[in-house]
Amino acid sequence: MSEPPIPVDRANSPESVGKHVTLRGWIYRTRTQGGLAFLVLRDSTGIMQVTVRKQSVGEEAFGRASAALIESAIEVEGEVASDARAPGGHEVRAQAVRIISPAEVFPIFSGQTEEFLLDKRHLSIRSRDIVAVLRVKAEVLRSARAFLASERVIEMTPPLLTGNAAEGGSEAFTLDYFGRPAFLSQTAQLYLEALIYPLERVYSITTSFRAEKSRTPRHVTEFTHLEAELAWAGMKENLDLQERLIEAICRDVADHCPAELSLLNVDPAELRSVKAPFDRIRYEEAIQQLQAKGFAVEFGSDLGTAEERALTLERTSPLFVTNYPEAIKAFYMLRSADDPRTVECDDLLGPQGYGEIIGGSCRETDVVRLRERLEKTGAALENYEWYLDLRRYGSVPHAGFGVGIERVVRWITRREHIRDTTPFPRTPSRVLP
Ligand code: 4AD
Ligand code: MG
Repeated sequence: MSEPPIPVDRANSPESVGKHVTLRGWIYRTRTQGGLAFLVLRDSTGIMQVTVRKQSVGEEAFGRASAALIESAIEVEGEVASDARAPGGHEVRAQAVRIISPAEVFPIFSGQTEEFLLDKRHLSIRSRDIVAVLRVKAEVLRSARAFLASERVIEMTPPLLTGNAAEGGSEAFTLDYFGRPAFLSQTAQLYLEALIYPLERVYSITTSFRAEKSRTPRHVTEFTHLEAELAWAGMKENLDLQERLIEAICRDVADHCPAELSLLNVDPAELRSVKAPFDRIRYEEAIQQLQAKGFAVEFGSDLGTAEERALTLERTSPLFVTNYPEAIKAFYMLRSADDPRTVECDDLLGPQGYGEIIGGSCRETDVVRLRERLEKTGAALENYEWYLDLRRYGSVPHAGFGVGIERVVRWITRREHIRDTTPFPRTPSRVLP
């Protein structure tokens, strides 16, 4: 009877030298020289060299092992030995190799186009780079949950099927809900606002959907949305929580993902240097800075990719831009007390040109004004009566924000395109695989 399999990272360590181990995984690379086959075995924890000698495993097993193609699933038994040339410094000298499932010729190899790799995404997600990014993403989510719990913000599960397209009807996916029109959620915000009355501090991590045709390196049509909503909060409390959340995420990724960051060529010291408080400028000041850089913008212009890039290119920490004009922001934002042209909102821009990673605001509490703003959007008012109710029964000042998790991961892992941060990216031209 063979021993239970152990993970590759445990086998590929000095403590395992001389031990008899069983490993299982997939063939990552393979090469045969006469009576000796070198297999590199991959499992979820890493890669390790396995040497298979004809005289140790027998002619038949050697024939099968050396003929097995990459991505074949195998199980190996043998002894761990030091070998400076092997990845990780150790190898397994096989005494037995079992082919669990032979692979056909793997269609993924280096030099293929991005489009081809996306067509074969179900296979190309085995790449070590993608896996490292997905592990960082998992740490981002774990860290965010731990931070919010420590701040006594409670996780909620709002619906994704909804009658409200709160971020703009033209960018909502519509669907037939038993004969009635409905939407895929663009934001959980309205539901979180309802939940602050019993719970005061709430958040959710849900999928948001946006039917925007923008083909940019930072837009996908389906993304992971972390949203928080806080009763009794104004701009200060809202921005403070956002920056401390981002600081905690960067520190945790630096502390817990050293191997992934090294594989991705990201310096953990850069992440550790992301410290609250972040600089804050008002939209109006941003417009002046952009004009000084030669941009043809004026009060009222929206800030696109190029503008956000110019504002943050030289920075190493994120930048808050606050108080945008009411006309270019969502209907639920509170009018600024000191400038009625603008609203109490913030966009948090990632440094080095990465652009918006968070959008937040104080919410309008006055039911009359809220209804007026809503009317201007052309939304079906009757579907928002429940939301207006929230202002009729004990309305309080409140604020919240939404973090685009893939955008944060793109910045932290320095990926060029947001699709590199999600296993099955959804874009206007892609809904398969
Ligand atoms: O700025 P947005 O549209 O704000 C809201 O939806 C608010 N209701 C959130 C809230 O206050 N509860 O979206 C929030 C964030 C953006 O800053 C961006 O990071 C991300 O969601 N995001 C996208 N990420 C990827 N692809 C897209 N198409 C995205 N649209 C927004
Ligand atoms: Mg936004």
